[in-house]
Amino acid sequence: MRLLVTGGAGYIGSVVAALLIEAGHEVVVLDDCSTGHADAIPKQAIFVRGRVHDAAAKVLTPDAGFDGVLHFAAFIAAGESVIRPGKYWENNTIGSLRLLEAAQAAGVGRVVFSSTANVYGDPDEIPIPETAVTRPPNPYAGSKLAVDHALAGYAAGHGLAAVSLRYFNVAGAHTAADGTALGERHDPETHLIPLALRAAAGVQERLSLFGDDYPTRDGTCVRDYIHISDLAAAHLLALEAMQPGTHEVYNLGNGNGFSNREVIEVVEQVTGCSVPVEVAPRRAGDPAELVASSDKAKQELGWVPAKPSLPEIVADAWAFFQRQL
Ligand SMILES: NC(=O)c1ccc[n+]([C@@H]2O[C@H](COP(=O)([O-])OP(=O)(O)OC[C@H]3O[C@@H](n4cnc5c(N)ncnc54)[C@H](O)[C@@H]3O)[C@@H](O)[C@H]2O)c1
Repeated sequence: MRLLVTGGAGYIGSVVAALLIEAGHEVVVLDDCSTGHADAIPKQAIFVRGRVHDAAAKVLTPDAGFDGVLHFAAFIAAGESVIRPGKYWENNTIGSLRLLEAAQAAGVGRVVFSSTANVYGDPDEIPIPETAVTRPPNPYAGSKLAVDHALAGYAAGHGLAAVSLRYFNVAGAHTAADGTALGERHDPETHLIPLALRAAAGVQERLSLFGDDYPTRDGTCVRDYIHISDLAAAHLLALEAMQPGTHEVYNLGNGNGFSNREVIEVVEQVTGCSVPVEVAPRRAGDPAELVASSDKAKQELGWVPAKPSLPEIVADAWAFFQRQL
C-alpha cells in the first residue's frame, strides 16, 4: 500500500514507519519536527516537512494514489494541555479534521489513528474494555476523543475504514531491520520510565513521584506498559483488518498493572543504580489505575504482544538511553 504517516519523526510514528517499509509498503512521512527528530525517519521513506493543517491537502491529492493514512502527529503532554488547552485543541483536533477532509477529498480509504487510554479518565472497571465510559480528564484526552468521534462520522458518512488505537503506556525501544535504534526522545520528557532512567544515570537529580496516597497496593498510580515493538505491530494488523464504513476502537496494553514504585524497582534492577525519588503532590486528572483489556485486539486482529515483560521493556529503553549519552 502507499501510506501517509503523519508524525513519522516521532517516537511511535518512526517505529511504525520502519515496520511498514519492512513489510513492503511505500511510506511518505509528513512531520513538522515540532517535537520529532528527522533522523528517526526511515531512509526509504519520502519525507515531507510540514504541518498537517496545511500540508496534508498538498500531499493527499487525488492523483497521489494513497491507500491510507496512519495519523500520529499530535502534542502529547497531558499536563501541559491543562495549562494551554488551546494549543492541544488546535493542533490535535483541528489538525486531524484538516487531515480527514484532505483524505476524504483525495478518496483515501483507510485512516488509523493514535488515540489514548487517557480518554477513559478514572475508569469504573479494571481491566478497561473499549465499551467503558469515556471521561477525558484533560484537554489532551478531549482533543483525542473528539477525533475518535469524528472518525466514526467519516466512516458512517463517507464509507471510510477507520480505526482508533487507544494506547496505554508505551515504552521501550525498537531496532529497525537496518539497525537503526528508535526510542523515546521527548523534550520535555513526561513519561515515567525514561525519567526514572535519567535519575538512575544521574542525568537528573531525582525523580518526582506524583502522589503516594492513591487507593492502590502501595499508594502510587498503577499503569499498563506496552512495548513499542508490540504496539507498532498492531498498526499493521489493523491496516489489513479494517473495513470500509466502520470505525473500530482497540485498546492496546498488556493487561498487567505496575505501580510507579514497582516500575522504579525494575529500573533499579535493570540499571544496577538507585533512583533518587521525591514524592510530589498528585497531578490533576491522574487516575489511580489504568490497565487495559486488549481482548478485542487479540480476538479481531490476532494481536499477540511478544514482549510483555516489564524488565525487558525497561532493558530495551535503558540500552537506547545509553546510546544517547
Ligand atoms: N507515547 C505514548 O505513550 C502515547 C500514549 C498514548 C497515545 N499516544 C499518541 O501517539 C501519538 C504519537 O506519540 P509519540 O509518543 O510518538 O509523540 P512524539 O511527540 O514523539 O511524536 C509526535 C510527532 O508528531 C509531530 N507533529 C506534532 N504536531 C504536528 C503537526 N501539526 N503537523 C505535523 N507534525 C506534527 C511531531 O513533530 C512529532 O514528530 C500521539 O498522537 C499521541 O497522542 C502516545
